[in-house]
Amino acid sequence: MKKSIRNMALAMFAAVSMVSLSACGGDKPAENAASGDTAQSSEDKGEATGDCPADLSGKTVGFVAVGPEGGWRDANEKNVQEAFKEAGAEVKYAGDANNDQASQLKAFDDFLTAGVDLILLSATEATGWEEALTNAKDEGVPVILIDRMIEPDDPELYVQRLAPNNEEVAANAAKWANETFPEGANYVTLEGPSGVSVVNERNAGWDSAINDNFTKKDAQTANWSAEEGKTVLAAMLKANNNDIQLVFAQNDEMGLGAVQAVEEAGLKPGEDVKIITIDGTEPALKALAEGKLSLVAEYNPLFGADAVNTAVAALCGEEVEKNFIVESAIFDSPEAAKAALEEGREF
Ligand code: AHR
Repeated sequence: MKKSIRNMALAMFAAVSMVSLSACGGDKPAENAASGDTAQSSEDKGEATGDCPADLSGKTVGFVAVGPEGGWRDANEKNVQEAFKEAGAEVKYAGDANNDQASQLKAFDDFLTAGVDLILLSATEATGWEEALTNAKDEGVPVILIDRMIEPDDPELYVQRLAPNNEEVAANAAKWANETFPEGANYVTLEGPSGVSVVNERNAGWDSAINDNFTKKDAQTANWSAEEGKTVLAAMLKANNNDIQLVFAQNDEMGLGAVQAVEEAGLKPGEDVKIITIDGTEPALKALAEGKLSLVAEYNPLFGADAVNTAVAALCGEEVEKNFIVESAIFDSPEAAKAALEEGREF
């Protein structure tokens, strides 16, 4: 009922606004900027006419976020919200997903009903977004994907995805493993929650680069958490009589939990078992500096300002690249970690 009333009202709005919509001045481009509609004039489409605002003053942005999940998420969501507020936007934050897609879908729909100008989405699940994103497109509300991707990838349903390149980050970690263990090794993988896009991307990147003389003894989710990283790895070590030389932990917290499991098994992290993590938060760099982690592949969370640029372009009806790749570093030694820590880390 609510949606049909909303859609009817929007149809009336669209009919009126096709006449009066000025570029960027209207509440929303009559069409989602990414899809556009060649049938309309440039001005109706909200295409940039040179008078696009340089910021987001007067705009309302709905952020369908993940919420508390670990150090990376905290840094990313803080950075994104601060950037949009500094650009003048009112940010409505929905961050209590608790890994529950249903609550994200409700927040998304509530934002459309509230008439926000643009939605930021960090999807807890990669799949199941077609209807929500199609509704946003029909209502002319641009959607920007923050970090997490949607599957299947339908470029018509979002303006841009901003994230470091997960495949590349994981492939670089595998290349380090190849160099570190030229004769190969037994390894296990600690994954994020199943169904999350970055988990699939990291597995694909790692598998694309790891040498054939490595043996994958196990792979399980530890749900991004240190506690589960510790308990899951402890069980893996026991099941393999400690004959594991390498751990690929897909985020810092699980890797730091793995350090504890290795120590409690009477083994020395960094020597008996080398642990790779992804993210690059300060606790991980400190553990690398102490030699307890062996590689930290950064997954830079600080791209709020880049997302603001995308939002301004989208609200001006300008086309943008579908993927914005956030540059990230790789830390492969205690010296590199110490240097980064001395410079000061924002996350
Ligand atoms: O989507 C990014 C991942 O989500 C990070 O690597 C992890 O720490 C976070 O929970």
